[in-house]
Order: sequence, then C-alpha cells, then structure tokens
Amino acid sequence: MDAQRFGGKVALVTGAASGIGRASAQRLAREGASVIAADKNLAGAQDTVAAIRGAGGRAEALGFDAMIPGASARMVDAAVALHGRLDVVLNIAGIYFKAHYDALAPDDWNRILQVNLNSVFEITQRALPSLVATRGNVVSTGSIAGLDGIAYAAPYAAAKAGVMALTKSLAAEYAHQGVRFNVVCPGRVQTQMSQGIAPVADVRPDLLPPSPRLLGLEAGASTDQVAGTFAYLASDDAAFVSGSVVVVDGAARAG
Ligand SMILES: NC(=O)c1ccc[n+]([C@@H]2O[C@H](COP(=O)([O-])OP(=O)(O)OC[C@H]3O[C@@H](n4cnc5c(N)ncnc54)[C@H](O)[C@@H]3O)[C@@H](O)[C@H]2O)c1
Repeated sequence: MDAQRFGGKVALVTGAASGIGRASAQRLAREGASVIAADKNLAGAQDTVAAIRGAGGRAEALGFDAMIPGASARMVDAAVALHGRLDVVLNIAGIYFKAHYDALAPDDWNRILQVNLNSVFEITQRALPSLVATRGNVVSTGSIAGLDGIAYAAPYAAAKAGVMALTKSLAAEYAHQGVRFNVVCPGRVQTQMSQGIAPVADVRPDLLPPSPRLLGLEAGASTDQVAGTFAYLASDDAAFVSGSVVVVDGAARAG
C-alpha cells in the first residue's frame, strides 16, 4: 500500500500517454490523487486511465496538442471544469529532435520551443488561479541538456533551460501566495523518447553527454524512478521546496 500523499487532490499530468508521464500519473493515483491524464495521444492517455482505474484509482483522459498555440490553455480550462479544482500540475509532455545545428530549419526550432516551453507557459499561466486557490504546485520537466547543453539538439537544450528559468521566476513571483514551482531534471531515461531518436549522420561520439554510472546502469533510469521524484516534489513532503531543480541522472554529471 502506497502512502496516500495526494488524498482529495486533483493532479493534471501532461504527457501521460507514455513514459515518464504515464508512470507519474500512475504513481500519484496510487497515492490517492484524482488524475487528469492529458496527451496528444488520446488513446494512450485512455490506456493510462484504464490502468489507473483497474488498480482502484481515479482518473480521466483529455486530448490536446501542445503544438497548437492556445490548445494547452484550453486543455487546462477543460481540466479545471472536471473537478472544479486543481492541486498539482505535472508538465511532462515533450518532444526531442536531433540535428546538426547548421541544418536546422526555423520550423524545427519553433516546434521544439512550442511543445517543450511555450506550452508550459500556457499551462502554468492558465492553471495559476486554481493553484492559488489550493496553494498547489507545478512540477515541470527539464533535462540535463538544459543544464549543460547538448550537441546535436540545441533547440531542445534551449527549451529545457527556458523551463528551468521560467520555473525559478514563478517560484519567486508566487511564493507569497504559497504556490510552489519545481523542475525534475532527468538524464537518460528508458522511454520511447530515448530509444526512438532518429540517428544523425556524422555524429562525433566524443561530443555526446556522459552516461549514467549508478550501479553501471548506462541504459538510464526507469520511468518509475523518475516518477518518484515528481511525486516527492508535488507532495507536502516538499512543502518548503520551491524554485528547485532536482537532477535524476544516476551520477552522470557527478565528479
Ligand atoms: N527519456 C529521456 O531520456 C528524457 C531525458 C530528459 C528529459 N526527458 C523529458 O521527459 C519528458 C517525458 O519524456 P519521455 O521520455 O517519457 O518520452 P515519451 O515520448 O514516452 O513521452 C512524451 C509524451 O508527450 C506526448 N506529447 C508529445 N508531443 C505532444 C504534443 N504536441 N501535445 C501533447 N502531448 C505531446 C507524447 O504523446 C508522449 O505521451 C519530456 O519532457 C522529455 O523531454 C526525457
């Protein structure tokens, strides 16, 4: 039996159709949250909901496409309408794209920024009145790419750095109202995203980021290990944690 840190609370989780988002939605639901699983992949989000309900939890699915300006804010309106409150928002939806910088088209830059950063702006801004009402919190998804940069994925790194700066700014601006903002910053995680990245020609291996070292698990964290960090930051166990970036990289950057 999991601890019930989210009893009576409503949590909106984006990217909940797969990977880290699905695992985090399931984790919060196991701990008592009523989860709203939002994703572009509505069928996947519905599968997550079915798994949560099958385990005795509460969840609903919403479809939205973060690529369309305004769609993320409208999705938040739909989420708030479901229960009339929002306690937790996990911004986990994201896309990755690899290319040599000199081959990037403006559209590549724009779509990576739209899904990974602009959508987080839309969601947090629209959710704010509800979060002020509940003294809720937001946990967004960074990446060690956003801390260190990453060769062959500059727009992704820029977007994730933006998520961290946005989060710290909001943590400062809304601290007096008791709303917390934090970031989980994963290194390599075993998901569709990390396994399905299209290869880029002429990559120099010496420019690639360091691998996780913990227990020699180079393949990276499991989604459950990352979900545990989302759950901690979203819970009252982190009641005085705001404006923080928690790195989950299996000691890849340590030393
Ligand atoms: N996997 C890794 O190694 C890794 C490392 C660092 C950070 N991250 C971050 O973790 C988060 C989750 O990634 P993941 O590894 O679980 O990948 P994933 O591909 O399994 O999950 C991403 C989810 O986002 C959804 N999504 C994509 N585009 C969308 C859109 N336009 N509108 C709405 N939803 C959309 C997808 O449908 C999917 O369910 C992302 O923000 C990613 O950048 C992942």
